[in-house]
Amino acid sequence: MKEPAIDATLACQRQLWAALQDRWDCRTRQAAQWLSNEPAVADIGCGLMALRDYLPESTRYIPVDIVDRGPGTILTDLNRDCLPPLPTRTAAVLGVVEYVIDLPRLFTQLRQFDRVVLSYNHASIQDMLWALGMRRKRVIWLHRHGPLAFARLIERAGWHITRRHRVRMGEAIYDLRRCDPPRDLRPVSPQIV
Ligand SMILES: C[S@@+](CC[C@H](N)C(=O)[O-])C[C@H]1O[C@@H](n2cnc3c(N)ncnc32)[C@H](O)[C@@H]1O
Repeated sequence: MKEPAIDATLACQRQLWAALQDRWDCRTRQAAQWLSNEPAVADIGCGLMALRDYLPESTRYIPVDIVDRGPGTILTDLNRDCLPPLPTRTAAVLGVVEYVIDLPRLFTQLRQFDRVVLSYNHASIQDMLWALGMRRKRVIWLHRHGPLAFARLIERAGWHITRRHRVRMGEAIYDLRRCDPPRDLRPVSPQIV
């Protein structure tokens, strides 16, 4: 039987995301520049599909979201479902990680890709700006890992950070390549004594 409280929270979240009107163009442009040579990109948490507008026309664009964003959207809830297998080696995850409860689970599921470009808001400065009336929307992020702790989470799930770019105060975008095998499973080299 369904749990009413969980259903209510989910319905609320879907309503919130369905009303999305923002585009985060600076972050999107940076991601599109890094991804410009990829033949296909899955945009996970695609929102208004701004990334599609910045990618070359030849790039196959695969939108994925919790809300139906238009024709071709693959529906998934990153907090409940397993990420379905997607027909590309590359993904973008922009402005989404902050709303995912279990980051190790997400980063492990992303290992179906060879390359992932993702963004993350590290600092609680956005909370301060909101409190001072200098930010339009209240922050509802589920966690705020600092850059070092966040990098550790990524690397533990078997990713190598090839580059990191600051998008705005507290927010960075990361270019990740999958390590094979994941770091934790690599044989320990014998110690030379
Ligand atoms: C802040 S918007 C970012 C949109 C877009 N990536 C961008 O950068 O313009 C977050 C997006 O993630 C989606 N989202 C939020 N929670 C999600 C979840 N649990 N599973 C899948 N998508 C989710 C929302 O519907 C929304 O489209």
